[in-house]
Amino acid sequence: MCRHLAYLGPPVTLESLLVDPPHGLVRQAWAPRHQDVGRINADGFGVGWYDRSRRLEPARYRTTRPMWTDSSFASLAGLAASGAVMASVRAATPPSPVETSSNAPFTSGPWLFSHNGTVNGFHDPSTGLRVKLGRLVSERRAGGIEGCSDSEVLFALVLDRLDEGASLGDALVEVTATVLGLTTGRLNLLLTDGLDVAATAWGSSLFILRDVGLAAGGMVVASEPCDDEPGWEALPDGFLMEGNASNCSSKAMGDADARVTHPGTQTTPTGPVEAAPPLEVVVHLQPGEVESALLADVRAGLGARPRRLSPRWLYDDRGSELFDAITRLPEYYPTRREREILVDHAAEIAALTKADTLVELGSGTSEKTGLLLDALDQAGNLQRFIPLDVSEATLRAAAAGIADTYPALTVRAVVGDFVDHVGRLPVGGRRLVAFLGGTIGNLGPSERASLLADLAGGLAPGDALLLGTDLVKDPARLVAAYDDGAGVTAEFNRNLLHMLNRELGANFVPERFQHLARWNAEQQWIEMRLRSIGTQSVRLPGVEMEIEFLDGEEVLTEISAKFHREGIEAELAVAGLRLAEWWTDTAGDYALSLSLA
Ligand code: AVJ
Repeated sequence: MCRHLAYLGPPVTLESLLVDPPHGLVRQAWAPRHQDVGRINADGFGVGWYDRSRRLEPARYRTTRPMWTDSSFASLAGLAASGAVMASVRAATPPSPVETSSNAPFTSGPWLFSHNGTVNGFHDPSTGLRVKLGRLVSERRAGGIEGCSDSEVLFALVLDRLDEGASLGDALVEVTATVLGLTTGRLNLLLTDGLDVAATAWGSSLFILRDVGLAAGGMVVASEPCDDEPGWEALPDGFLMEGNASNCSSKAMGDADARVTHPGTQTTPTGPVEAAPPLEVVVHLQPGEVESALLADVRAGLGARPRRLSPRWLYDDRGSELFDAITRLPEYYPTRREREILVDHAAEIAALTKADTLVELGSGTSEKTGLLLDALDQAGNLQRFIPLDVSEATLRAAAAGIADTYPALTVRAVVGDFVDHVGRLPVGGRRLVAFLGGTIGNLGPSERASLLADLAGGLAPGDALLLGTDLVKDPARLVAAYDDGAGVTAEFNRNLLHMLNRELGANFVPERFQHLARWNAEQQWIEMRLRSIGTQSVRLPGVEMEIEFLDGEEVLTEISAKFHREGIEAELAVAGLRLAEWWTDTAGDYALSLSLA
């Protein structure tokens, strides 16, 4: 096993990047902190770096000496500076030889490449893997292979994909899939041309640091954090990151994974096993993404007739508090009903699904999460919890609480939007995806169809979906649940206007808007609206809008659809999911359904 790193950003010396940081690559060579196979990387190292123009091929320094004993490198590292660097320290996996040509980074033309891990069985002649993989390499690229490591064959396969015009990320994902079609392995791949970088986390840790500290003005991707400064984000296992000095994104390697099971289950660690970090948070939202989505929604929705706003904006800090209060109101029954069903059936859910991973969309309601986690734990399967929420603060707090309560649990929190990011959840394990609270009712029929299709597309055979839905009932009770006597829901609704005042510098007077809850019998949903009391003009400087509200003019702020079993079953079927169980509370108010991929 090895450690590797890539840097893109303003020019820095190799010394400041690799030698100086307290847990930089030199330190990682003899005292890695996140390495779970092998304890020391003494079989040499390599560094590749680009000139300022990126027009020359990268320079490379490779040796089989351990990095911390190499005084020649120490003397050059203080003077050599670059804005694009890749480096790796190596622990050769026996019987892979200790030779310079087997040390990353590998290079060809503008490319630098590194592989941290092993292709299982590659050096065992009885598997025929070396021959099988070698046959997949084009003649042109086979000629460039110097040594006899698995990593060089992977590089040749990556170059073939690049020759065919694949992007950096696609090349890595495709080669991973190719290897996993034949065997298993740890496949953390790293590729750059000095301008862009792509990296995979497949079986080993990987961290990203952007624009702060060591990565000021650029980015670092590395097997482990090089210092204890804040900002290092773990990339979940099974994920690909792509980016450059100013922009990075990550996504699940869904395709590669479809052919295999969880990478962690495929390798037998040969050294002492270090505990996985208990809590990792991956942020799928780009900086400013939420803000620009708000601007777009306000421009399109408030300007339209009838006027509308997306319900997602109801949940700022104050809105989340108010929603929490709603769940305790006598009129608002869904939360209690759902809890009742979970108390009665969580053990059955655990037994039926045999899930080891709980994915929770729009998490936050930790009490219900606890019921499910306890049941999976008691069934003896629980390994991972993956909560997804748009609010990073809520998510961190909830995830940290869960990580404390279940010390053996790996918690991988995903900051994202369930509509946009449901197809990019961490892969692997036997997953139970829980989408509770009736939140799917906030989407209209076509949005529900695409969400369910995205979700189903990301599930593997054996994975399951637990869906909470409120049921159609006496409209008087439905309306009361959304227009409570204490006025909490009204406050929750008007909080949207406080949010617009704060975020967009608007001058709404929330008290001049009346909260309305109406049952739309045709669509079978509750509509929550704000109605203007009198004519009034409102300025929204943040979107350069001025709106004249007529007396009684309404803004639609939320729909909350109610369902029948037949409808749910049909919508699931269209997405390719099969309804396996349907549970309701004793009053028949609310339903939990379990469906299988
Ligand atoms: C959290 C979306 C499920 O629709 O019942 C509660 C939100 N709105 N009262 C729902 C809500 C008004 C709630 N969900």
